[in-house]
Amino acid sequence: MYKVKFKNKDKIIMVQKGESILSKCNDGGLDIPFACLQGMCTTCIATVLEGKTSYIEEPDQDSLSEEDIKNNKVLLCVATPESDLLIDEIED
Ligand code: FES
Repeated sequence: MYKVKFKNKDKIIMVQKGESILSKCNDGGLDIPFACLQGMCTTCIATVLEGKTSYIEEPDQDSLSEEDIKNNKVLLCVATPESDLLIDEIED
């Protein structure tokens, strides 16, 4: 179990490796915007400030640019934690 914290939220959500960060956080009462839940639409894009993630399902090839990846942007609906995470503010 890893701790997932958003910069602009007080709650810490526990997420297991293999679970969707977005699903767990929204189950836990956060309000992260989403649409496709399949790594395609980029509605759930966020920047990982500290920690490491991997993907449960690879996002659609065109969904993230190389620059996005370089800037630690991930699609939370298909991302899972590999360590405790601090994620930048997300707009509700
Ligand atoms: S909700 Fe569409 S990419 Fe995550």
